[in-house]
Amino acid sequence: MSSDKVVIRFSNVKKLYKLFKSDKQRLLSLLSKRVKYAEKWAVDDVSFEIKEGESVAIFGVNGAGKSTVLKMITGVTFPTSGWVDVYGRVSALLELTAGFDSELTGKENIYLKCQLMGMRDQEIKDAEKSIIDFAEIGDYINQPTRTYSSGMLARLGFAINVNTEPEIFIVDEALSTGDSRFQEKCLLRVQEIIAKDHVTLLFVTHNLGTATKFCSRGLVMKDGRIIFDGPISEASQLYEGGSY
Ligand SMILES: Nc1ncnc2c1ncn2[C@@H]1O[C@H](COP(=O)(O)OP(=O)(O)OP(=O)(O)O)[C@@H](O)[C@H]1O
Ligand SMILES: [Mg+2]
Repeated sequence: MSSDKVVIRFSNVKKLYKLFKSDKQRLLSLLSKRVKYAEKWAVDDVSFEIKEGESVAIFGVNGAGKSTVLKMITGVTFPTSGWVDVYGRVSALLELTAGFDSELTGKENIYLKCQLMGMRDQEIKDAEKSIIDFAEIGDYINQPTRTYSSGMLARLGFAINVNTEPEIFIVDEALSTGDSRFQEKCLLRVQEIIAKDHVTLLFVTHNLGTATKFCSRGLVMKDGRIIFDGPISEASQLYEGGSY
């Protein structure tokens, strides 16, 4: 169910990546305008609105610009031009450990990450136990995260993102975290979160079955543009057919 309140708005958003021949060239470009580079418009004049409580899938082949759109919503990257407006607390199953400091312990990183998400100290205290329980990494929670295996890191990142009452929930094919039992648990938790009426879901996946199960609206991206925005059944047909 969705309300009339807009929670995500893209207005003529463009994102340019500059591709240099080498890191040295990239550095030189800061000093001189004459250094040559190729241009890649990862997102090219994209506009859309998502209302509170909507569940929206984004389809598109590799490199279409899906993750770049999500990263602009989470603030990991910024538009080259245009506006991105986001109203509400964002949790993202994407770059799960962005913002972690590897010298800090798991517990300290919970605080760090939750503070970055704009949570107050009391809210963090309330969420801490459920995060630690969900992560199931035992005594390692008191060790610096540089000592974690990649699976353990992902578990902690996932646990934080799904135990902090998200209002806008962003999933980028991230359900393949950890071993199969942990994956199953993650999937159940994602279902619980998006069952709440006010929670808005944005879901990037190549799995049409999962998308159709969770989402009612679908965007199809091609070469950085949105070429379709409408009912999920039509979006998935278009994407599956591949003739766009
Ligand atoms: N940091 C970067 N520097 C340069 N180019 C980038 C960068 N990030 C993404 N790109 C380019 O921007 C385009 C869009 O990338 P993006 O990651 O958004 O695609 P995607 O739709 O998420 O693809 P996938 O399905 O493979 O995840 C691609 O051509 C990619 O190579
Ligand atoms: Mg991607």
